[in-house]
Amino acid sequence: MIEVRDLVKRYDDLVAVNGIDLDVSAGEVYSILGPNGAGKTTSVEIMEGLRKKTSGEVRILGHDIEKGQREIRKRIGVLPQSFNAFDYLTVKENIEYFGGLFDKRIATEELIGAVQLQDKRDAWFTNLSGGLKQRVGVAIAMVNDPDLIFLDEPTTGLDPKARREVWEIIRKLKSQNKTVILTTHYMEEAEVLSDHVAIMNEGRFIALGTPRQIIDKHGSGSTCVVKGANAAAADAVRSAGMMYEASNGDLLVRMENKGSLPKLIGLLSASEVTYDEVLIKGSTLEDVFLKLTGKKLAEAEQ
Ligand SMILES: Nc1ncnc2c1ncn2[C@@H]1O[C@H](COP(=O)(O)OP(=O)(O)OP(=O)(O)O)[C@@H](O)[C@H]1O
Ligand SMILES: [Mg+2]
Repeated sequence: MIEVRDLVKRYDDLVAVNGIDLDVSAGEVYSILGPNGAGKTTSVEIMEGLRKKTSGEVRILGHDIEKGQREIRKRIGVLPQSFNAFDYLTVKENIEYFGGLFDKRIATEELIGAVQLQDKRDAWFTNLSGGLKQRVGVAIAMVNDPDLIFLDEPTTGLDPKARREVWEIIRKLKSQNKTVILTTHYMEEAEVLSDHVAIMNEGRFIALGTPRQIIDKHGSGSTCVVKGANAAAADAVRSAGMMYEASNGDLLVRMENKGSLPKLIGLLSASEVTYDEVLIKGSTLEDVFLKLTGKKLAEAEQ
């Protein structure tokens, strides 16, 4: 569906996209995950034909991005970052309007059903909450029954419930065999929704693969969290030479190998050791980002 080779985009002196390669297959959800200013919107808007590349090769649905624009436009759908529809048209009228721009289109009622806006069909766009507005945006991106849909930060600024509702719509798109390119700065979103993820930082992809592959390759294994550990617990872990960090009265003990867990349990059984509870935490994409860049995602935001 998408083939990108050595894509570069410069804005005067700034290299916003610095040589990325990307291959996206049919029917997958592919996320580009990265902090503000990483170059996500620049990259996807070049693939959508909205911005011009400086150099590199971009093929969308088998067509060259510049020569094949007419063919490509018919078959892609786009939810731009900070999407806005007409404030004083209703949900239905907005979808009708955008549908009118295409020869091939899905019936408005079907789209309203797909994003579950039946109750809001006749409400003005301006009066919708942020989450409902984003759902109108997704409906508009689907209006021409595209094979490939770009969603640029569809959940930024939404509350957790509204975010999950957008996730459900994305899952439904996948179940209809649509290909979805999603940009996000939420690690969890990329992890739960995507078949493949590219982690982007300062114009480059710093890790690529399935969430599992990325975590296995760059993650640092599991951590055993001992909550409410007393000083004797910390002493025992330290004298046993285990790798750990102390944070807010919790001990985060690195599980370096198969023997680490029984060893730790043994230490915690000593009579002078007290703690509240113990849990095991696997590595996440957030940990990978921290390891590769030395920063937490939120700190990397410009
Ligand atoms: N039209 C433009 N002219 C000049 N610089 C730009 C332009 N668009 C983006 N930039 C710069 O390019 C870099 C990448 O921006 P881009 O919008 O692609 O990042 P992003 O990953 O989408 O960020 P966000 O998460 O905030 O949307 C930033 O430093 C940005 O300021
Ligand atoms: Mg962006």
